[in-house]
Formats: sequence, C-alpha cells, structure tokens
Amino acid sequence: MKEFKILAVIVALVGITYYGIEPYAHHIMHPEVSPADFSFKDLKNVDTKLAGNAANGKVLVEANCIACHAIDKAGYPAVMPNADAAASYGVVPPDLSSAGRIYDKNYLANFIFDPVTAMHLSGKYTPESGKAFPMPSYNWMTPQEIMDIVAFLQSVSPKVEGKEAHKATFEAACGRCHNMKYAGIEATTPKDNLKAYTGAVAPDLSQYIKSRGEHYLHSFINDPQLLLHGTSMPRVGLTEEAQEEVIAYMEETGDSKKAERESLGIWVLLYTFIFAILAYLWKRKIWSEVH
Ligand code: HEC
Ligand code: HEC
Repeated sequence: MKEFKILAVIVALVGITYYGIEPYAHHIMHPEVSPADFSFKDLKNVDTKLAGNAANGKVLVEANCIACHAIDKAGYPAVMPNADAAASYGVVPPDLSSAGRIYDKNYLANFIFDPVTAMHLSGKYTPESGKAFPMPSYNWMTPQEIMDIVAFLQSVSPKVEGKEAHKATFEAACGRCHNMKYAGIEATTPKDNLKAYTGAVAPDLSQYIKSRGEHYLHSFINDPQLLLHGTSMPRVGLTEEAQEEVIAYMEETGDSKKAERESLGIWVLLYTFIFAILAYLWKRKIWSEVH
C-alpha cells in the first residue's frame, strides 16, 4: 500500500511538471508568434500583377534613385563616400545591385510606394516625432511605373549561388547596419551615425545563430515588431530563399561546426549501441560463472 502512495505522489508531481510548469515556461520563453509571412499580404498599394518594363524602369531609376543609391552591377557607383552618405541620411543607402533578387516583389513595390509602412516603422516616424525617414515615398508614381522600376532592378541582379549568395545577401540586406566581426564584415554605416539614426545599437551578428537560434531568426527578420515590439530594426522584406541565405551565412560564421557535429551524431549512437551489446555479453559471461 505504501508503495502505491509513493507511486501516486511521483505520478502527480511528474504530471504537474509535464503538463503545467513546462508548457508555461515554454510559453513565457518562446511566445507564440504567427509564422513568417513571405507574401507580405498586409501591403496592397501597388498592383504587382502588372508586367514591368525594365527599359522604362531604368529611366525612372536614373531620375529618382541613383542620387542616393549605388547600383554597382548596373554601372552606377556611389555618389559619395560612406561617411558622407551616413552624415547626410543617417544610414548609408544600400547598393541596389541585389535588390531585385533578394526582396520579395510585393514588398519591394510597396516599399518604393511607402517605405515607412512597408518596414513597419510607422510607430517611430509619427508626425509628432518630428523625425522624417530619409528615403522619400514614391506614392505619386503610377503602379505601372513602380513595377517598371522593380522589373529593372530584377533585370540587373546578378545570379549568384551557394556560399557566395549567402554572403552577398547578408551584405545587401543587413550590411548597412550590422557588423559580422567573425567574418570580417563591418557595417557600412559608422557606429555613431547608426546609433543616432536607429536610437539603438545594432548588435554584431557573429554569434546570434547560437544565442537566438534559427527558429527565432526566421520570425524576427520577417517581422521584427512581432517579437520586439517598438524596435527600430526595420522589416527588410526578404524572400524566403534570401532569408534562408542570410541565416545560412550566420550559421557558417557563428556555428561552423554544426554540420560536423550532426554527421558525428550517428557514429556516436553506433558506438553506444555496439558498446551496449558488448556490455550485455560480458554481463552474461560473468553471471554464468556465478550461477
Ligand atoms: C534621398 C535618398 C534616397 C533616395 C532618393 C532613394 N532612397 Fe532608397 N533608401 C535610402 C536610405 C537612406 C535607405 C536605408 C533606410 C534604412 O535602412 O532605414 C534606403 C533603402 C532602400 C531599400 C532597402 C529596403 C529594405 O527593405 O531594406 C531599397 C530597396 C531602396 N531604398 C530602393 C530605392 C529605390 C528603388 C529608389 C528610387 C525609386 C530609392 N530607393 C530612392 C535613401 C534613398
Ligand atoms: C536600418 C538598420 C538595420 C538593418 C538594415 C538590419 N538591422 Fe537588425 N537590428 C537593427 C537594430 C537597431 C537592432 C537593435 C534593435 C533593438 O535593440 O531594438 C537590430 C537587432 C537585430 C537582431 C537582434 C534581435 C534580438 O532579439 O535582440 C538581429 C538578430 C538582427 N537585427 C538581424 C538582422 C538581419 C539578419 C538583418 C538583415 C536581413 C538586419 N538585422 C537588418 C538595425 C538593423
């Protein structure tokens, strides 16, 4: 009878831990967030079904964008050194060579139409704040003109693959704000300008794959406000593929032993298995002599 009581107490304690405490702690540490939305369906100002005309897009980009942005791969160099660009705009405008490849089409079109809304920074750039976002809204353009620009940007984006793509995507999407010291990458915007611009220190991302994990990064990059409400880190609007490239780059830099560790796992299990058989045979031998 006593044993049954002890068993009942153990079962009750395990039950409380398993069904009560553990899910509660999990829910506090990893709050439920809606899954990453790579269609950016909250953005609806531009009809992205229109087929863009890259030749007209080129004319529009020359008239509207290259005063601030370099597009190296299309033959438009930066008009001023990074330090001057940071002093003028707060942050160095990114080179747009990869823009057509890495940004989702719907996001990109709507970003050109209204950058602040697309980046989910309306809470920061309110009329009362007195702050103005450095890139103008092109909401005076027709949807057709915006899709022409998108078509042009897509036409100049070089095709890259593998590790080269991982690095290129990181630099294009994150490199104006974040250092990646372990890979020798320093943000194009000088630290002090950036702090004044964002109001927060953009951390060095070398080890973030370890401290935050892939799952968190997938949701966070897709929509920072969901996990860090009020943060000045913008939504950057990457396609699912480009976002995977960025995370792969963070993994190659911060956790380069992951693949090795995973491939070693199977051998460790095999070793344990063989060892268990040997131990069993050994036990049988010893006990057979005892009996
Ligand atoms: C007055 C300068 C200026 C002009 C003109 C300008 N931009 Fe920008 N743009 C910026 C700055 C500054 C940023 C970075 C803002 C930030 O990260 O907070 C930026 C960011 C971007 C991004 C990155 C978006 C993201 O999600 O990370 C794209 C794409 C872009 N601009 C496209 C364009 C296009 C296309 C044009 C022309 C139609 C244009 N820009 C005109 C200053 C400018
Ligand atoms: C315009 C500048 C800017 C760009 C571009 C940018 N970030 Fe950030 N990021 C920030 C700032 C500022 C913070 C700090 C936010 C805070 O403390 O509220 C931050 C924070 C982060 C964090 C830490 C989140 C946490 O839980 O503490 C991660 C991870 C991150 N960024 C990843 C990225 C990646 C990956 C990219 C490119 C796809 C990127 N960021 C692009 C400015 C930027």
